[in-house]
Amino acid sequence: MTTEPDLRHHGDAEVRTAGLVDLAVNVRTGTPPDWLREHLAATLGTLAAYPDQRSAHAAVAARHGRPEEELLLTSGAAEAFVLLARVLKPRHAVVVHPQFTEPEAALRGTGHAVHRVLLSPEDGFRLTPGAVPAEADLVVIGNPTNPTSVLHPAAGLAALARPGRTLVIDEAFMDTVPGETESLASVRDLPGRVVVLRSLTKTWGLAGLRIGYVLGPAELIAELSAAQPLWPVSTPALAAAEVCSSPAALAEAEQAARTTAEQRAHLLKGLAAFPDVRVYGEPAASFVLVELPGATAVRERLRAAGFAVRRGDTFPGLGPDWLRIAVRDAGTTDRFLAALASAAEVMPA
Ligand SMILES: Cc1ncc(COP(=O)(O)O)c(C=O)c1O
Repeated sequence: MTTEPDLRHHGDAEVRTAGLVDLAVNVRTGTPPDWLREHLAATLGTLAAYPDQRSAHAAVAARHGRPEEELLLTSGAAEAFVLLARVLKPRHAVVVHPQFTEPEAALRGTGHAVHRVLLSPEDGFRLTPGAVPAEADLVVIGNPTNPTSVLHPAAGLAALARPGRTLVIDEAFMDTVPGETESLASVRDLPGRVVVLRSLTKTWGLAGLRIGYVLGPAELIAELSAAQPLWPVSTPALAAAEVCSSPAALAEAEQAARTTAEQRAHLLKGLAAFPDVRVYGEPAASFVLVELPGATAVRERLRAAGFAVRRGDTFPGLGPDWLRIAVRDAGTTDRFLAALASAAEVMPA
């Protein structure tokens, strides 16, 4: 018997015990940076006024070279999944898994049937030709994908776009990729409707503030906007959206992405020494997915040793032998690898 994964489980539930080193949630550590904290704190004196989106809206649209009517600011990327589920009327919705489970949960929650396309570890979790059925009029895919960390080539995603289809690309982690090389955020000339979701909560440490946005065709953005409540994004969140779109912030994010790439290489090198740990595909984001027989017990032992990693079994297409590990600085990674060696009861070769 196969049990249905809990689509509403997220990494934050795994770090609610005080004192655990957090490798379960993929928010960058040491964030928000001081300059951002101070910038947000400076908005507190204006909280008596209702939020005014104009300047944040203009700044984010300009950052992606899009007309303003092609942008909607949201209360995190998470709000966008709900808005899309409320507004779209798909006949054949496809969610490409393993991926973040909220898009499917939101679609099901509003009564839509969801067809799953499961990418396989043997293919390195890459999109294979023909994986997405032609009849799909809504396709949701992550890039880079949580939890596989795989970065799909922009051309491969663009090839999924076609008249009559809404293609939703969740780029919540694209700012962890140096150069955002495979982003479609600024691309406006593909057939059908291409919608890109972005988040500012991971790189900037603003998960508690809630700020993200949607880029897409103006007519769909207008429909999504009409489905939002009044004043959906708070004044501090708007201030964050504006300042995080500045050239200085983008340069800092780029540097952070490069650091993440180095730290990920260190983690992957350490993991490669474990004969039972397997990594599929080429991780490209701020986390790594591993297959490890007995991962459930290993995760519990890691918790007892003070380290929280993300269980993999709540992602469709994975199971109890999978764990997702956040990329951290080399010192934290080394301490984690030592704990893993004990928890997995095998010493690295
Ligand atoms: C792939 C992915 N997309 C979107 C989100 C939602 O991000 P936000 O905090 O902007 O709502 C998450 C959060 O974990 C995520 O992992």
